Amino acid sequence: MRHLLTGFEFNQDEYLDILDTAAAMKREPEKFAEVLKGRSGAIMFEKPSLRTRTTFELAFYRLGGHGVYLDLQNGELGKRETIGDYARNLCRWVDCLVGRVFAQKTLEELACYGSVPVINALSDLYHPAQAMADYMTVREHLGRLKGVKLAYVGDGNNVTNSLFVAGATLGVNVTCFCPLGCGPDVQVFTKASELARKNGCTLAVENDPALLKDFDVIYTDTWVSMGDNTPLEAVKKKYMPYQINQELLQRSGAQIVMHCLPAHRNYEITDEVMDGPKSVVFDEAENRLHIHMSVLSKLIKA
Ligand code: CP
Ligand code: NVA
Repeated sequence: MRHLLTGFEFNQDEYLDILDTAAAMKREPEKFAEVLKGRSGAIMFEKPSLRTRTTFELAFYRLGGHGVYLDLQNGELGKRETIGDYARNLCRWVDCLVGRVFAQKTLEELACYGSVPVINALSDLYHPAQAMADYMTVREHLGRLKGVKLAYVGDGNNVTNSLFVAGATLGVNVTCFCPLGCGPDVQVFTKASELARKNGCTLAVENDPALLKDFDVIYTDTWVSMGDNTPLEAVKKKYMPYQINQELLQRSGAQIVMHCLPAHRNYEITDEVMDGPKSVVFDEAENRLHIHMSVLSKLIKA
């Protein structure tokens, strides 16, 4: 049994297989209509979602299965009963657990006590299926992944960590540009950097936005992630030099602009860029569906 908890679980061939299957599902969805016939999953969310919730529910439906949405926004997992008991109940009914949680350790606990695959739909540390959909989108637009240079600009967060992990696995060079002290998780970065060395690419963290030159892809995310109640206005000054606006985009040389969404328009990205010709943000959003279908089909065994 395999889980998708961090993104480190899969090697390059497996990542490419997930991306290829997602592309095939996008081209000819009808061919996959019965892949999960009679199978089901619990979709548990401690935090809000538009894209991830919708696309996981639809992914089950499009594969002939059923996803049961469990709203945990009014009570974190482990409050009403232990996480172990929660997992042991659900595993008597469903074939997979999809979880969006505050703490990565909640997912690890579900995987430890449960007997079905657990999929991370975002935690404090990772957003692995997001990164898969993102690299699928990069490949669609640039025709390749190996050797591509991606600049992530803004706050080093769960999305950054997952872009590092998946990028290192797929041979993509990823640099995070962020204010001092706002970098990605050091342990994740160190482990992903080892992987990058093996796969012939490099990962880096920089503070100076003036170094943003000669990239193929530029990517950003919110400056304040879910669970952090700091008002955006309070961090604006610190992050403004990292805003993706027309000038920064031009200087970066990037052919495409990415954002996992939801966007805070005219904070981390300007309207002009988000609605401009290089923006592929809604392709990324669409590809969430195809990647989730692919991942579910790989992890839930017939
Ligand atoms: N990108 C993403 O995960 O969006 P949601 O928070 O709307 O699911
Ligand atoms: N870093 C963001 C991603 C949202 C999809 C957050 O965790 O809120």
